[in-house]
Amino acid sequence: MKKIYIGMSADLLHPGHLNIINEARKILNNEGGGKIIVGLLTDKAIASYKRLPYMTFEQRKVVVENVKGVSEVIAQETLDYVPNILKIKPDYVLHGDDWKTGVQAQTRQKIIEVMKEWGGKVIDIPYTEGISSTKLNKILKEVGTTPEIRGKRFKRLLNSKELVTILEAHNGLSGLIVENVSVEQEGRKVEFDGIWLSSLTQSAAQGKPDTGYLDTTSRMSTLNDILDVTTKPVIYDGDNGGPCEHFVFTVKTLERLGVSAIIIEDKIGLKKNSLFGLDVEQNQDNPEDFALKIKAGKQAQVTDDFMIIARIESLILEKGINDAINRAKIYLEAGADGIMIHSRQKTFDEIREFARIYNTLENKKPLIVVPSSYSEVTEEELIENDIKVVIYANHLLRAAWPAMVNSAKSILKNHRCKEASDEYCMKINDILNLIPGGR
Ligand code: SPV
Ligand code: MG
Repeated sequence: MKKIYIGMSADLLHPGHLNIINEARKILNNEGGGKIIVGLLTDKAIASYKRLPYMTFEQRKVVVENVKGVSEVIAQETLDYVPNILKIKPDYVLHGDDWKTGVQAQTRQKIIEVMKEWGGKVIDIPYTEGISSTKLNKILKEVGTTPEIRGKRFKRLLNSKELVTILEAHNGLSGLIVENVSVEQEGRKVEFDGIWLSSLTQSAAQGKPDTGYLDTTSRMSTLNDILDVTTKPVIYDGDNGGPCEHFVFTVKTLERLGVSAIIIEDKIGLKKNSLFGLDVEQNQDNPEDFALKIKAGKQAQVTDDFMIIARIESLILEKGINDAINRAKIYLEAGADGIMIHSRQKTFDEIREFARIYNTLENKKPLIVVPSSYSEVTEEELIENDIKVVIYANHLLRAAWPAMVNSAKSILKNHRCKEASDEYCMKINDILNLIPGGR
């Protein structure tokens, strides 16, 4: 009885995958039978090198289990095949021959070495031309998503990634950037995991101060523009959530739209942006009252997926770490699904200290930070301190402003637009083709 091992993600199962399984069947037929074992990469294993799959592990497992020829599907917990290979000791490992080059070449080499011990072999199956997961992914993005799939995605990310990275969007266009921009790094495709609908940047984009002046209708209108053109999960900046009686409606609306989480801050009175700190008058809510708001929100939500994250303003208001920790305990007790701790210090020290104590709490939930002022902190440091989500809260808008001002000044100075076009602007052709469907 021969054993063949095939590792795959199988998010978008296509003829390329089926071809490999078919080749495995042929080998087994020639060699007197045996088993095809598929090592299905877990969400965690996949998220370690590319975006989270559309289907959950369980959904992908059901699909692969029902493919003709597959005898068994087991979880492959890492990108590295070796732990499973050592357990199974297969006679053959089959894979598309595309892995002979690029980052996967190392993985392949390692498997060849390990299998020498029992005489196992790697067989490279010629790549199926004309179809690829990359192409299918692109098509799927164009098809879009549903509120249900999008809504669940933030929790799945929290369960699969060491650190979930979120970038601000304030309109459809910036939403497209968060959705689509990626870089290749050490063979991995790095992209943002989700979208922050910032009160600061949405207000500024509409020429308004961040004082809660934009009403819910206006916030929802921008949210809809972003939801229209993206598939990634959205975290909504809910300021202080308003009165309990209003907050329960906001929760229901966001949940219905497929927003994954709302963050509400423990302040009362006229809203002022936290980064002003004590330069302006801003007051913190009584923790017990704020806890009631969290409870009311948790009772209002319909599914288990929606998250209500409590944002603690003690450090902003210089009340100290003990006050912040005490509030974290009260908010967790009230049912908060995560804690966002904010700071306007120039260094990470204060947040590091908070995280150290917070992480000893038994009922702790994911910790979220917004390093706008302590911007030197690296994602590695955040991971070391067990921080689960980083929100880059305002960078797209802050980047756009100087470029726009420079363009305006350039036209004024030069009495024509050539210099502005050449120095600060994208090409006319690029803007015409930026959004598909315009032709
Ligand atoms: C926002 O982006 O609107 C925030 C973060 O709430 S901060 O501006 O730092 O308060
Ligand atoms: Mg805000």
